[in-house]
Amino acid sequence: MKGIILAGGLGSRLFPITISVSKQLLPVYDKPMIYYPMTTLISVGIRDILIICNPRDIELFKYLLGDGSQYGCDFQYATQSNPNGIADAFIIGSDFIGNDQVALILGDNIFYFPSISDRLNLNTNFSGAQIFAYHVSDPSRYGVVEFDENNCVISIEEKPELPKSNFAIPGLYFFDQIVVDYAKDLKPSHRGELEITDLLQIYLEKENLNVMKMDKGTAWLDTGTFSSLMEASQFVNVLEKRQGLKVGCIEEVVYRKGYISKAQLLELAKKYSSSGYGKYLISLMNE
Ligand code: TTP
Repeated sequence: MKGIILAGGLGSRLFPITISVSKQLLPVYDKPMIYYPMTTLISVGIRDILIICNPRDIELFKYLLGDGSQYGCDFQYATQSNPNGIADAFIIGSDFIGNDQVALILGDNIFYFPSISDRLNLNTNFSGAQIFAYHVSDPSRYGVVEFDENNCVISIEEKPELPKSNFAIPGLYFFDQIVVDYAKDLKPSHRGELEITDLLQIYLEKENLNVMKMDKGTAWLDTGTFSSLMEASQFVNVLEKRQGLKVGCIEEVVYRKGYISKAQLLELAKKYSSSGYGKYLISLMNE
């Protein structure tokens, strides 16, 4: 399975912070925001990853993340000139996706979902679409999914004024390869965007949409506003301090997965030897 991180957009709710720098490069406590979605994809076993960003920011992303070989992964880059919608990722990424299944994650979504790889069953026969539902207090800001009493999905609506449930759809989606064809046939919505909910609607109509409720012990945070950005930093800070473990640490995940050796981890750790992040990487080698 391939992976796409969608890290473009305007970030206008964070102006003036994001006037000159991409939202997804801003810090969330002790690491750049994009480390979190990157870690989520890698932790489910995805190593071929396309990063889509604004033309302005591509060199900075490349400088930060390189070609991925240092993590035993393969990173590629593409640009989106205008925020034409989340489903645009499948058109921009169509050559990259080829005939493979694909996961899409939004670059400003942070998941704390320790059992994610156990809950997912992404074998090579996976077909259809797999998404999540997360209980939130303010569903009208998101895509909202409605269930019947048997937990079957009845409807999906984008940012409804009167939400039919409290279950929002987080920015992590898994699709079979047909998604590219579906995306190419989409028409822009009244907001002028290619909507991910329209894609999900197609899978729902074909009875090929699987929605998994995220467990109570998991967290899904987005970082699009001043408050949510600060709360995400506080969340990571509290968790890391209390547990002595890091969230969103790419080097740790690739090391634990066996994608890099101890010697390679040491090389990476040396780059950050004067920060707590580097010291943490060193401590992993002594476990
Ligand atoms: P949003 O938060 O909806 O948009 P934004 O990041 O441009 O912020 P704002 O609303 O404050 O202007 O986007 C969610 C994520 O998806 C974010 O990581 C950016 C990304 N995105 C794109 O890369 N391209 C797009 O066309 C859209 C709609 C979003």
